[in-house]
Amino acid sequence: MTSHALHDAPHTASDHASSAHEPHTAHRHAGDHDLPELLNLDARVMAPTNAAIMGYVHAQTSGSTVRRILDVGAGTGTGAIALAQQFPQAEVVALDIAEDMLREVERRAAADGVGARVSVQQVDLNGSWPALGHFELAWACASIHELADPDAAFGKLLALLNPGGMLAITEMSVTTRFFAGTADSEFEERLHTALAPRIVGHNDYPDWTVKLTAAGFTNIVSRTFVADRALGDDAAGGRYAQAYLKKIQPYVAGQLSSADAQRLAALVSDDGEASLRRRTDLSLDALRHTWLGRRP
Ligand SMILES: C[S@@+](CC[C@H](N)C(=O)[O-])C[C@H]1O[C@@H](n2cnc3c(N)ncnc32)[C@H](O)[C@@H]1O
Repeated sequence: MTSHALHDAPHTASDHASSAHEPHTAHRHAGDHDLPELLNLDARVMAPTNAAIMGYVHAQTSGSTVRRILDVGAGTGTGAIALAQQFPQAEVVALDIAEDMLREVERRAAADGVGARVSVQQVDLNGSWPALGHFELAWACASIHELADPDAAFGKLLALLNPGGMLAITEMSVTTRFFAGTADSEFEERLHTALAPRIVGHNDYPDWTVKLTAAGFTNIVSRTFVADRALGDDAAGGRYAQAYLKKIQPYVAGQLSSADAQRLAALVSDDGEASLRRRTDLSLDALRHTWLGRRP
């Protein structure tokens, strides 16, 4: 299955260049200033699927005591908070390079009543990692593929796990659709056709099994989770579709016909007649892929 994450989907190789003097959000790809909002909307709209993934991860750890959990590239904390809720005896350490993300993790964790068990650390995972202690579970959602050297990251994660500890990686498919059964469904296909060649690494990362095996992980399994439901009048659904398509917009702009470019602009507008925020006929068709591996 070929997939790539929504949040890095339209990047190009040059997007990875960043200077040590840039602020901690500067490594983000073009158009990513809205990333925290997109991640929070993703948490709301994908909640049933995320819950299924967390349930799967929890079930796979059953029989072992999970006291410390690491969230690698935590973003706004969707995984860290869900893990703190799923493992009520555990403390969660959330790592991210971006300070605004980590402030949002703290805010959400406090609001959800797990603030005392969720701590954050600002870390550039492409550099040297600080002393973090050991963990029974490590979680990385839509983050490993953003790192310069995933092999090195897997090696470090293996060393951070206690024997028998588990690493769970989840990636988000770039092929999310919103317009099935609507007059925009063919337009959406043209959008994805235009996007496909713009996705760097589209074919080379999805099966993490090879790199996990090379790093020394064992008992590797993977599973696909499908989100397929009507969004109806869920206001977050329209805003999520808007944020998602806005993210794609700069990368397909030059590839679309002027009619399609205009349609896209109208859909992602905040308050126009055609704004996605007004739509009640949207649906969600999205995939998540999860890999689990153990430290022997
Ligand atoms: C697409 S977001 C996913 C966030 C979160 N895991 C989720 O599922 O919502 C990727 C995250 O990885 C972080 N990240 C990217 N490169 C990083 C690096 N070199 N060191 C630490 N964090 C990094 C970004 O700041 C961002 O928060």
